[in-house]
This record gives sequence, C-alpha cells and structure tokens, in this order.
Amino acid sequence: MTTSVSVRNLTVSFDEFKALDAVDVDVAPGESFGLVGESGSGKSTLLRAVAGLAPVTEGTIRVEDRQLLGARRDKAFYRSVQMVFQDPYGSLHPRQTVDRQLLEPLAIHRVGDGERRILKALDEVGLGSGFRFRYPHQLSGGQRQRIAIARALILEPSILLLDEPTSALDASVQAEVLNLLEQVRRDRKLTFIMVSHDLGVVTHMCDRLAVMQNGRVVERLSSADLVAGRIGEDYTRNLMVASKGFRRG
Ligand SMILES: Nc1ncnc2c1ncn2[C@@H]1O[C@H](COP(=O)(O)OP(=O)(O)OP(=O)(O)O)[C@@H](O)[C@H]1O
Ligand SMILES: [Mg+2]
Repeated sequence: MTTSVSVRNLTVSFDEFKALDAVDVDVAPGESFGLVGESGSGKSTLLRAVAGLAPVTEGTIRVEDRQLLGARRDKAFYRSVQMVFQDPYGSLHPRQTVDRQLLEPLAIHRVGDGERRILKALDEVGLGSGFRFRYPHQLSGGQRQRIAIARALILEPSILLLDEPTSALDASVQAEVLNLLEQVRRDRKLTFIMVSHDLGVVTHMCDRLAVMQNGRVVERLSSADLVAGRIGEDYTRNLMVASKGFRRG
C-alpha cells in the first residue's frame, strides 16, 4: 500500500514519561483519518511528531515515502505538511494583518506571486479581498479559523494536520468550517489527520480512526463501524457516551 503518512513504533518521551508509546498509524493518500481519545492520551503529540515538532525517542515517521529523521526536516517537507490548531487566536499573530500572516510562509519558502496567491487563498476560504488588511481582533472566531486554514493552504501542502480545528467555535460556525475543510480536501485531494473529541465530527469527516489511551492506540475502526456500534473496546464505547455531538445513526 502506498501511504501518505506512515508511523511505526513511534515513541515520544518527555523525561521518563512516554507521551506516545509504540504507535503505528498508516494513512493513505487522500484519506481523512481521525484521532480520538481522552485528554492527555497523546493525540496532539502524535500530530506534532508528524509535523516535526515533538522529540522522537524511537520509531520512524514516513511522509510520502520520505523518511523523517528526528526534527531535521527539509523545506519541501515543511511545505507538504501543514498544521491547523484549535485556537486561531493562538496561531495568528495579534499585531499582524491577514496580509502579513499569509505572506510569511511564502517569504520563508521563497515562493513568488504573493499577490495572486493571497487573493486566491482568501477566496478559497470564503473570505474576499476585503479581509486582507484586517487584524485578528477585527475578525470573528470562524473568520479567524478561515484565515488559519488559508495560511495552511497557501503553500499548497498535500497533508493537513488538524488539531481540534473547530472545537472553539459555535455549532453553526463549526459546521461551516467543517464544510469548508471537506471542500478543500476534495478540491485539492488532500490527506487529513484530524483530532477531535467530538465523535460526531470525526465520523462525519473521517473514513477511519484510531482510538488513543495513555499514548497507545487501543483500537482502530472505520467510521461506519463506530456509527453502527461495532466497537471492540469499552474505552471506545465510553468515549462515545461522553461525546455529546455523537448521534448513533
Ligand atoms: N512538551 C511537553 N513536555 C512534557 N509533557 C508533555 C509535553 N507535551 C505533552 N506532554 C504530555 O504528554 C501527554 C499527551 O499530551 P497531548 O497534548 O498529546 O494530549 P492530547 O491527547 O492532545 O490531550 P487533549 O485532548 O487534552 O488535547 C500529556 O500527559 C501531556 O502532559
Ligand atoms: Mg491535544
């Protein structure tokens, strides 16, 4: 199987504590893969490791058949893997305009044609050029998250790592941003790895998912299995009960 992201025996330790303990995950090109699990189970750490932002103690990470060693990643890698975080306040610079924030990744990667790319990115996330010179505090939460998505897309990555991308948003805005993500995934044939504590969101957005507990994957299943209640672990069943957004259907 060709994989977009392949994680093998991945262990990430902070001092003696194993935030990830021998994790295996394979994500196919164009697939949308979900990560669920209780708080502290290692979901963000796994995304951060794939993005080169967590200390890998053991194991391997391959992205599009390139093996990534430690935190030393080449620029092409940083271009192909982009991350979107839960809190758009935290990920946008408060004193920089939208224009500056979109220009920054282009400057870092010495990509030209900034003007056209910025207008295209704003358009793609459903915000017109009128938003270009606004500051984050002049945007709603949903608009801020759209800017964060535009910034992730502007380098034309093939993989998006999404860490609770809509959980800070109201339900109606959440649905809009999820629809936007689904549309860009289809249009650009992107691979997603998405963390959410809302199993309704995960089953809606993802084909398959891994369930994490204490830094390990305890169960893998398809969204269809989860929705139909074909669940192997009590731990997973309890997550389902705890997830308010989840409707068994
Ligand atoms: N830089 C760090 N230094 C020390 N411990 C860390 C660090 N990053 C994460 N951890 C620990 O690793 C464990 C996993 O954290 P992680 O953020 O991956 O959890 P999570 O599943 O994303 O939780 P949540 O749902 O609350 O976001 C936690 O116990 C956390 O305290
Ligand atoms: Mg987290």
